Amino acid sequence: MNNNFSNVSDEQRDFLYKLDLQEIVDKYGSPLYLYDERTLRKRCEEMRGLIKYPQFSVNYSIKANSNIELLKIVKEEGINADAMSPGEIYVLLKAGFRPDQIFYIGNNVSAEEMQYAIDHGVLVSVDSISQLETYGKIHKGGKVAVRFNAGIGAGHHEKVVTAGSKTKFGIDNTLVEEVKNIADKYALKIVGVNQHIGSLFLDGRAYLEGVKGLLAIASKFPELEFIDLGGGFGIPYKGHMGEGKLDLLGMSIKLDAILKEWMKQYGRNAQIKIEPGRYIVAECGTLLGTVHSVKTNYNTKYIGTDIGFNVLMRPVMYDSYHEIKVFRNGKELDNSKGSKATVVGNICETGDILARDRELPDIEEGDIIAVLDAGAYGYSMSSNYNMRLRPAEAIICKDGSHKLIRKRDTLEALLSGF
Ligand code: LLP
Repeated sequence: MNNNFSNVSDEQRDFLYKLDLQEIVDKYGSPLYLYDERTLRKRCEEMRGLIKYPQFSVNYSIKANSNIELLKIVKEEGINADAMSPGEIYVLLKAGFRPDQIFYIGNNVSAEEMQYAIDHGVLVSVDSISQLETYGKIHKGGKVAVRFNAGIGAGHHEKVVTAGSKTKFGIDNTLVEEVKNIADKYALKIVGVNQHIGSLFLDGRAYLEGVKGLLAIASKFPELEFIDLGGGFGIPYKGHMGEGKLDLLGMSIKLDAILKEWMKQYGRNAQIKIEPGRYIVAECGTLLGTVHSVKTNYNTKYIGTDIGFNVLMRPVMYDSYHEIKVFRNGKELDNSKGSKATVVGNICETGDILARDRELPDIEEGDIIAVLDAGAYGYSMSSNYNMRLRPAEAIICKDGSHKLIRKRDTLEALLSGF
């Protein structure tokens, strides 16, 4: 058994070795998203402590993972939430979040969707002049937040860079006066400004530049209650290859200094929010699957599993890397004692590749594949493509016991809309 956790962030792997993964898969089925409560709580705590500034709160961005049992844990940890759709608002309310603990960050939403948030007492952020007009028409005299794009973006892939000159998101910082005019026209009170520069940075520089950019815009709104700096805090998917963790402490010191200076100029304190998704849930989740075939096609060895891209979309969508470990009879096999193989799923597309040319042990049918750091944008992006069933989800509780937290889809559910 290879127990080398080199550079792997602390505790989140050890649960894999404390459990008999075969037993887990036998009990809950395969594929399975398996979460670790302790790791989830730890990440919440780290985000909560990001800065010293007292009026600071964390909104978990639930698009990363909206399992209601995980949401309840996040809530218990004193974390609020942001939502991207009425569906997310609905789930958050069911999880026990109060309306004032939810922030709806809409993008190109209908008046009906805005109305849903308003009717439920949830604050809305708009991210275009035209959406501000729509909001003004349906909620004259209301409170609103505005998402700006200060021109600085970052992210692990161009598809997830959400500020800068090549994205649909946010209001260009040259349009501040227009925002004010429309707010005046409908007697709207702009209570917050927000931004999100993109997803996954491991170097805080762009984030800090983005913060300065947003604060410069915020200075032009004298009555703000809050400033939401966005999410994007990365995790090292290649930690075992030496990729370092995000230096939260370093960011914290710099952020505190920037904020302190700004508050002085602003003349009063405003609430500061962040909206991490991935950082909170990525590392607490492991995706377990089963090997069903091993074959060689024209010199490429293919490991055929039940983890199609309907289960984990990230590698296909963004060429994302997830570390893979292989278990047989509950014991880990040594990745360095084998050969290169390409791990694929069961979807009828050639692009259905989970991991290309990986150094892996000599895998056999029946082995269990553990895909690490799959807690964020894993289940939440899964689908029924090819009429496949979305997997079950289970959690290892802090006392070491485990339980199912979402059932696998059923065949009947595939026809539930008819
Ligand atoms: N706030 C807003 C407005 C967002 O759009 C997002 C993510 C977040 C916060 C949270 O970002 P995070 O802290 O998780 O980076 N599916 C992609 C990631 C898409 C992120 C979309 N927006 C992936 O699997 O990498």
